[in-house]
Amino acid sequence: MAVITCIDDLKRLYRRRTPRMFYDYAESGSYTEQTFRDNSADFDLIRLRQKVAVDMTGRSTETTLIGEKVAMPVALAPVGMTGMQCADGEIEAARAAEKFGVPFTLSTMSICSIEDVAAHTTMPFWFQLYVMRDEDFVDAIIERAKRANCSALVLTLDLQILGQRHKDLKNGLSAPPKLTLPVLLDLATKWRWGIEMLRTRAAALAISWAMPGMSATPPAWQAGRPNSSTRNWTGPRSHASAINGAAS
Ligand SMILES: Cc1cc2nc3c(=O)[nH]c(=O)nc-3n(C[C@H](O)[C@H](O)[C@H](O)COP(=O)(O)O)c2cc1C
Repeated sequence: MAVITCIDDLKRLYRRRTPRMFYDYAESGSYTEQTFRDNSADFDLIRLRQKVAVDMTGRSTETTLIGEKVAMPVALAPVGMTGMQCADGEIEAARAAEKFGVPFTLSTMSICSIEDVAAHTTMPFWFQLYVMRDEDFVDAIIERAKRANCSALVLTLDLQILGQRHKDLKNGLSAPPKLTLPVLLDLATKWRWGIEMLRTRAAALAISWAMPGMSATPPAWQAGRPNSSTRNWTGPRSHASAINGAAS
């Protein structure tokens, strides 16, 4: 595409370049996808208020988010498997966020490691953590986030049970992709993705797709207190929810 003018152009490029299973992963929801449609419809309703006959010099969207100066009140939400959307996806996204001046949140379900992202950025990024039963895993990952100088812990509370995502099941979503005939046929048209992916360090690693068990009942959170599993985090926290997209 010679000239990119809007998000829809980027989406068309993205669809053309990315294997179907990863495109569908990002562009669909669970079960009937009602929440996915509702979220998109909510964004469609947002309008910018027009102001006329006012002095527009020196206007700025700069503000602070949990004490950090940001170019606009936006943070990149955690998105699992960004590193399968394109080679080194998490690193690329973190660098783009840094360049623009907004925070990047690294998902627990990332392909690039906390250390890799830290090594390729200069600004601290945020780290997202699921509430999990395996406290040793949580302790270890919090230690890594602290060592990598992450400036906030974003706790995701709404994944006690995985919603069934029909397209992921049908596509046989896995990272790296299993080389079935339909996947191979799809990859043949996404050769650029494949070549770039082969160059990454993460692609050479076998990615463990098994998550330690989520805590089905996080009682400490329900009582509004930090879960004991995050007792070792001393910096700011925010609570994320995929339903309302809130980071507070
Ligand atoms: C493809 C995809 C992957 C996501 N992965 C994660 C994740 O790994 N961790 C997490 O806490 N939230 C994850 N989310 C939820 C988002 O971070 C965000 O909370 C949600 O999309 C709502 O934000 P929005 O209102 O800006 O769309 C994911 C969302 C999408 C669409």
